[in-house]
Amino acid sequence: MRKVKQICMLLALFTLIAGCARPSEQAEEPKLLLGFSQLGSESAWRIGNTRDIEQKAEEYGVSLMLENANQKQENQIAAIRRFIAYKVDVIAFSPIVEEGWDNVLMEAKNAGIPVILVDRDISTENEELTACLIGADFYSEGVQAARYLIRKADSLNMDQVNIVEITGTEDSTPMRQRQAGFMDTIKNDDRMKVMESVNGDFLKSRGAECMRYLLEKYGDDIDVIFSHNDEMTLGAIPEIEDAGYTPGKDVIIISIDGGQEAIDVLKEGRINCVVECTPMLGSKLMETALKLKNGQEVEKLIHPEEKVFSDEQDLSGIEPRGY
Ligand code: AHR
Repeated sequence: MRKVKQICMLLALFTLIAGCARPSEQAEEPKLLLGFSQLGSESAWRIGNTRDIEQKAEEYGVSLMLENANQKQENQIAAIRRFIAYKVDVIAFSPIVEEGWDNVLMEAKNAGIPVILVDRDISTENEELTACLIGADFYSEGVQAARYLIRKADSLNMDQVNIVEITGTEDSTPMRQRQAGFMDTIKNDDRMKVMESVNGDFLKSRGAECMRYLLEKYGDDIDVIFSHNDEMTLGAIPEIEDAGYTPGKDVIIISIDGGQEAIDVLKEGRINCVVECTPMLGSKLMETALKLKNGQEVEKLIHPEEKVFSDEQDLSGIEPRGY
């Protein structure tokens, strides 16, 4: 009987210890430590993307080490090295440009840390360096922009279409792919002529500078502006107005991203078409990082669904954009 009593007391003690430990363990122990190197804060898109990743990390119980590289590749490489030294479970990063990642990614591989590409791709011979890419289909965005332009030229009976292109950061995936998708789609249409492509680096201030330069050089001859993001478009529009032209009427304006400000300007008729590029990649990132930590298979390429907003549609029902 004494033995039974002793066993009962021991059991009660274990239950008490286990019961006490569990809630605090749950509160303190994150499911995953994720190192994320964001490339910068150049646009409303980028700021929305960072915010979404921070919010989703909290929702999924993921502990996030976030570093902002302020538009410098060397800062991203240094951040990835710090994540390796810190022994994070998974590394994610949005590469500012495509080239130059093999060495640091080999270091991550040797340390046994899986790497997720977010938003942009890298150029490498070694497919094993990264687990997957979560980001938009930039080529298709360029195709959608060009298809809109072809429809618009048809509807206006244009027999020649003079285009200027303001591109994003040189050698970045969205710059390369949006340009390729656009050019491939217009190349068999004899009306289309790209007069010049200039690099606006995805920045509003550079969009304005590029526009001033293009207006000075081509003035009246410009029929269309294909701008690789909203930020540069919003920089270019006041320059067009200052030069005495009406954006959306005298000049066809095509943009990419679909942030709130650009959608508002589209509704005013000062932009003609905005191809959506969603920055809301946080949920997919958390789900994929958790799978990798648990040794599960992940999809190699994850593209979100994206829409096209244009003056061909009723725009009154567009939901608030959140970026
Ligand atoms: O990589 C996505 C692009 O980068 C977005 O179109 C742009 O706004 C951002 O800066």
